[in-house]
Amino acid sequence: MKTRAAILHDMGQQWSVEEFELDPPKAGEVLIEMAAAGLCHSDEHIRNGDMSVPNEVMEQFGLPGMFPMIGGHEGSAVVVEAGEGVTEFAAGDHVVTSFVAVCGTCRWCSSGMEYICDMGAQVMIPGMPTDGTFRHHTADGRNLGHLSKVGAFSKHTVVSTDSIVKIEPHLPLLPMALLSCGIPTGYGSAENRAKVKTGDTVVVIGVGGIGTGAVQGARINGAAQIIAVDPVEFKQKSALGFGATHSVSSTEEAADLLRDLTRGVMADSVVVSPSLISGDDVQAALSLTRKGGTCVLTGMTATTTNSIAINLQEFILWNKSLVGTVLGSCNPRVDVARFTKLYEAGLLQLDEMITRRYRLDDINEGYRDQLNGEIVRGIIDFSLD
Ligand SMILES: NC(=O)c1ccc[n+]([C@@H]2O[C@H](COP(=O)([O-])OP(=O)(O)OC[C@H]3O[C@@H](n4cnc5c(N)ncnc54)[C@H](O)[C@@H]3O)[C@@H](O)[C@H]2O)c1
Ligand SMILES: [Zn+2]
Ligand SMILES: [Zn+2]
Repeated sequence: MKTRAAILHDMGQQWSVEEFELDPPKAGEVLIEMAAAGLCHSDEHIRNGDMSVPNEVMEQFGLPGMFPMIGGHEGSAVVVEAGEGVTEFAAGDHVVTSFVAVCGTCRWCSSGMEYICDMGAQVMIPGMPTDGTFRHHTADGRNLGHLSKVGAFSKHTVVSTDSIVKIEPHLPLLPMALLSCGIPTGYGSAENRAKVKTGDTVVVIGVGGIGTGAVQGARINGAAQIIAVDPVEFKQKSALGFGATHSVSSTEEAADLLRDLTRGVMADSVVVSPSLISGDDVQAALSLTRKGGTCVLTGMTATTTNSIAINLQEFILWNKSLVGTVLGSCNPRVDVARFTKLYEAGLLQLDEMITRRYRLDDINEGYRDQLNGEIVRGIIDFSLD
């Protein structure tokens, strides 16, 4: 079938919305029609080269090139057609996508760590996770990758059943898209990695889509003080609406505030979720973390950032933990349903996170708004087309 998507032809180019050819789903796959797709900053990292690899380099390793590629990994959709042998999904099912494909049987999935599934680890290599071949093709017949094996910036896409999670049909599809990446990544950073407890003091550095999820994770897990750090005034204000008790513009200001609030003890945990983590950001975040506390690196860094400098003696003797996380260390098959309950209970604010909705054709405008600090989360609403 012919359908439309935002395609990246190479690193550094703009998203190009165009028609492409989509094959029917094969065994273990489904054709889905997207309802909504979130503008996560990770897609911007793929576009600007922070997280992508030139085709020539992929080819040196004997792998297919990343470009051209359909973007988007955060989305909600309706199943249109199930491929051969698919029993767990049928036409009409409502789903959210998972940017980590979850096989359900590897060592990691079997021990409650779906987020580091062996199958999920291959999502940057183009081709279907089922058999490595392609369902997506450019209008002139070339193979077309689909980001994270999802390709949410497309009216229709074909995905493995490992890349989707079913949700109840009565739930509104637009806000549910956030349960695909922004919420699990941010919320899980606070709950699973920082292990926020009642009464904690938590700092969240960078309160865009992911950081706002972290603020909510800290609030719902009972943090008493939540300090949002963001240079953008709009973000400082918006964070207060999601549970931050204080907002500041820099880690220096956060350090002064924490010294006052905690009598010099500093924060029980710090979630680091700015647009991009640089080498210097790590020491700044660690210096806000109390002795015995945890600093969680959630934001992405550039492929070229290979080393960081930290005060090592202080790190060791103050017994600190510095941890990374993918998807907030969430298990999509368990946690998506849990998040829908928090949403329905009025605890998890999703609708409020969607500052603006865009047509697929206006995707570059959406990312410009994100870079200008004007939106908490932008969403492509496919019903606008
Ligand atoms: N670990 C994962 O699994 C995972 C998953 C999704 C996204 N991410 C990453 O998380 C990061 C945030 O993504 P997002 O979609 O929320 O982006 P976003 O653009 O919505 O938000 C980033 C925020 O950081 C702020 N910021 C920029 N520089 C800052 C600084 N020096 N100090 C404090 N704040 C600063 C911006 O003003 C903005 O509000 C990105 O790097 C993204 O790639 C990681
Ligand atoms: Zn994302
Ligand atoms: Zn697995």
